[in-house]
Amino acid sequence: MGELQSVVKERRSAMKFQEDVTISKEELSQIFAMNKHVPSAFNLQHTHYVVLTTPEEKAKAYEASGQYKVQTASAVIIVLGDMMAYKHVGRINEGMLSLGMMSQIEYDLETRSVTEMYESKGPVFQREEAIRNASLSAMQLMLIAKDMGWDTCPMIGYDEARIASLLELPANLVPVMMITLGKMDESKMRPRGYRKPVDEFVTWNSIQ
Ligand SMILES: Cc1cc2nc3c(=O)[nH]c(=O)nc-3n(C[C@H](O)[C@H](O)[C@H](O)COP(=O)(O)O)c2cc1C
Repeated sequence: MGELQSVVKERRSAMKFQEDVTISKEELSQIFAMNKHVPSAFNLQHTHYVVLTTPEEKAKAYEASGQYKVQTASAVIIVLGDMMAYKHVGRINEGMLSLGMMSQIEYDLETRSVTEMYESKGPVFQREEAIRNASLSAMQLMLIAKDMGWDTCPMIGYDEARIASLLELPANLVPVMMITLGKMDESKMRPRGYRKPVDEFVTWNSIQ
């Protein structure tokens, strides 16, 4: 079995974290640096992460979620998606332009077509894109963390408005999920939940 397959099979959502385990900013930064390789639509990199590591900040996240594991996690990561990511298309491609990997014509065309697409499809699409792209990024982040010896739990059970006010989020940043990260207390693990057989969630050439 390849290494990725073991990481995929071994990742579990932590039910409870061991207390008093800290993770350094350096190690978290290594996880995020590896996660730069995640794909995103038009390479717009819609995802922003806010990392809460102090007991005070974690206590606020606990208040917004009511989930005990938030308090004992080594870090609480708020995953945000940027509805306005398309506005940075020019900046994202600037390096490629100056290195000659993209011509001025290609650069202008990319800037115009991406901007037109996101503006014509409107705010529902912009929000979907924020959530879609940040979700892919979050999944990869959890696998990288596992590979580096850290357990995680993706979480949607929190009060979105409270998180938004706690972080003073601008309207373009959508809270997508919370990821708690730490070393799981293995004595509290449940057996892996039922998974549907492949034939139940894959069909070939049509929905039937
Ligand atoms: C989008 C999403 C939201 C979730 N929200 C929570 C949550 O709020 N609290 C929690 O304890 N687990 C949460 N989970 C974890 C799931 O319960 C877990 O992934 C599922 O039971 C399968 O278990 P496994 O991840 O160990 O394979 C969430 C998972 C996902 C993908």
